[in-house]
Amino acid sequence: MNRRLGVLISGRGSNLQSIVDAIDNGRLDAEVAVVISNKQGAQGLARAREAGIETVVLSHRDYPSRETFDLAVVDELRARDVGLVCLAGFMRLLSPAFVSAFPNAILNIHPSLLPAFVGLDAQGQAWRYGAKVAGATVHIVTAELDNGPIVCQAAVEINEADTAEMVTSRILTVEHRIYPEAIKTMLDGRWRIEGRRFIS
Ligand code: GRF
Repeated sequence: MNRRLGVLISGRGSNLQSIVDAIDNGRLDAEVAVVISNKQGAQGLARAREAGIETVVLSHRDYPSRETFDLAVVDELRARDVGLVCLAGFMRLLSPAFVSAFPNAILNIHPSLLPAFVGLDAQGQAWRYGAKVAGATVHIVTAELDNGPIVCQAAVEINEADTAEMVTSRILTVEHRIYPEAIKTMLDGRWRIEGRRFIS
């Protein structure tokens, strides 16, 4: 797998930052070839520019369908010879056309221990549910939401005195650790998938 990453964002970009930092300090041998956002004002775009990374903004509102938007994103990634696509707070469902353009080469980070708490506000879902343990998951993206083989997970405790915000921030800390680790595992290439089990 080539080591050129395409990072897709919609907002703050703290996971993007963790990837950039891991590359800068030698923990991750990769290059962010492009950061693509579907939101013009995303804070992550400023982080990318600060790091000297090319940015592209494509608004899904400018396209007649999910698939035409997705194929425009795929074109931008291919034009930069991206080998691994990293979703980092990209708030769009990917169409089958996008997923099949990068088979087993799209990662996502989700702020729960999947398969628990899919969808939006997973941290708040876990807190409201009364879970005692929460966490984060990096998984390979398939056409189904928050599905796909699990590359890496990390757990955090939920204590009785915690607010949902405290849980969210504790999970974010482990997200920033495991996303670069999962990318490294993918790029190192010594992995296989059996059923839906990712084995490295
Ligand atoms: C993270 O919690 C990530 O797990 C979820 O969206 C959030 C993105 O945060 N998919 P950031 O934009 O990386 O700061």
